[in-house]
Amino acid sequence: MSVPPRVALRPAAAGDAEALWRWRNDPVTRGASYDEGEVPLDVHTRWFEEALGRPDRRIWIVEADGAAAGMVRLDLADGEATVSINLAPEWRGRGVGPEALSLLAREAFEGLRLARITALVKAGNPASRAAFERAGFSVSRDADPVVLVRERGAGVTA
Ligand SMILES: CC(C)(COP(=O)(O)OP(=O)(O)OC[C@H]1O[C@@H](n2cnc3c(N)ncnc32)[C@H](O)[C@@H]1OP(=O)(O)O)[C@@H](O)C(=O)NCCC(=O)NCCS
Repeated sequence: MSVPPRVALRPAAAGDAEALWRWRNDPVTRGASYDEGEVPLDVHTRWFEEALGRPDRRIWIVEADGAAAGMVRLDLADGEATVSINLAPEWRGRGVGPEALSLLAREAFEGLRLARITALVKAGNPASRAAFERAGFSVSRDADPVVLVRERGAGVTA
């Protein structure tokens, strides 16, 4: 078996706009999201620049073996956050997602001192559900979407 990639998070910056746009428009990603439409680069870039300046949003680039391999995001509200993840197609299926989500949980609980983080996953996306569960999230509502939650101090250590 091959060595698992080394995973790290770094804050996203304006220069990441095009990579995020490419990952966002991947057909598998579009199928996994609730807004399945293709986004033009200029619309995406405006959204991304605004997102980087928002106090209620945090975006990190997932690095795998030093390469930009995807993004994770927290949308903050009332001491909690909703989690999103999207990996570059070439980095999927290699264990990067669970590792990135574990690192994100650490940012959320130790860095931002959030009480709880929640993910909404389409019922037809078992890989995503499995990735969240492996990162210490528990299913709190098994419907469509599946709601997965991780609370500060609960379960595995961040
Ligand atoms: C979903 C995603 C985050 C998962 O990350 P990943 O690094 O590719 O995931 P892994 O390779 O670690 O696989 C996660 C688990 O899913 C399992 N899995 C993969 N495909 C599966 C399938 N079709 N059915 C069931 N389980 C599946 C894997 O076996 C693994 O389980 P294990 O850890 O128990 O072995 C990533 O593939 C991705 O970004 N996909 C595109 C966008 C997306 O779906 N985002 C999530 C929206 S909620």
